[in-house]
Amino acid sequence: MGKLKLDTKTKYDLYIKSVQSPDTDVIFYRAVYQELRQKLKKGLTLREDFCGTGIISSEWTKLDKTYKSFGVDLDSEPMEYGQRNFIDTLNLDQQKRIQLVQMNVLDKKVPRADMVVAVNFSYCLFREREQLKKYFKNVFDSLKPGGLYIIDVFGGSQCADEVLDRTKHKGYTYYWDQKSFDPVSGHADFAIHFRIGKKLYKDVFTYDWRVWTIPELREIMKEVGFKQSVIYWEGTTRTGSGNGKFTRVTEGEACLSWISYIAGLK
Ligand SMILES: C[S@@+](CC[C@H](N)C(=O)[O-])C[C@H]1O[C@@H](n2cnc3c(N)ncnc32)[C@H](O)[C@@H]1O
Repeated sequence: MGKLKLDTKTKYDLYIKSVQSPDTDVIFYRAVYQELRQKLKKGLTLREDFCGTGIISSEWTKLDKTYKSFGVDLDSEPMEYGQRNFIDTLNLDQQKRIQLVQMNVLDKKVPRADMVVAVNFSYCLFREREQLKKYFKNVFDSLKPGGLYIIDVFGGSQCADEVLDRTKHKGYTYYWDQKSFDPVSGHADFAIHFRIGKKLYKDVFTYDWRVWTIPELREIMKEVGFKQSVIYWEGTTRTGSGNGKFTRVTEGEACLSWISYIAGLK
C-alpha cells in the first residue's frame, strides 16, 4: 500500500505550527543585527534563503514600515502557499516591500541585502565542503557592506543517534525521525511525519543532510571573507531544557541536543 499523502495546505500549516516561530524569530534577528552592527538603519533589507513559504520574510515587513524582504527558494509549491496565505494577507504597503524569488541560492543574481538568514538548517543539504563554501561565498558577495549572515546549527550526542521524537499538538502529533546517521561521511537521513487521528502521514518532509559542526561552519565563513563569526547559545530552564533565549558566548556546553546560531559579519 502506498503512503498517505497530505493536502498542500495541511502539509505547510502543520509544518509551520510544529517547527517555526517566525514572529519572535524576526525580533531576534533584528536584536542580533543591533548588537553586532550597533545601528538599525531605515529600509533594512532581509533575505531569507531556502525560504519555503517565506513566512519569515513576511513577518519582517511588519517590524517596521521601511523594512524590505526577499525570500529565495527553488520550489514553487511552498512559495505559492506563502503568497496566498501570508503575502496576500499583508496590507498593501507591506506587500510592496516583499518579494519571493524563485531562484537557486547559488545564483550570482540573488537579491542584495543587509542581512541574510538561512534557518531550519537548510544549508545542510550542501553535503560537500566545496558546495557549502560556494554557497557561503555567494552570501558574502551578495551582502551589502556591513552586512550580517545568520544561520542556525544543531548538535549534541543525540544528533548522531537513530531516534524518533514525538510531540503532541492540539489535533495532531509531530514526529521528528532521525532514521540514520553515518559517522564516516557525516550524512544523515531525517524525516518529518504527522499523525492526524488514526492516520499516519509518513515522510511528509525528508532531509538528506550533512551534519556540520560549529567549528567547520566558522572556518568556511572565515575562508570566504567573513571577518568575524559570533555564536549565540541557548540558556536553560531549572530543569535543564532550552529556554528559547540565545545569548552571545565564546564557549558552549556538552549536552544531548542543542540548537544555536552563528552570525557572520561582513
Ligand atoms: C527545510 S526547507 C526550509 C524552509 C524554511 N526555511 C524553514 O525555516 O522551515 C528547505 C527549502 O530549501 C529549498 N531549496 C533546496 N535547495 C535549494 C537551492 N539550491 N536554492 C534555493 N532553495 C533551495 C527547498 O525547495 C525547500 O523549500
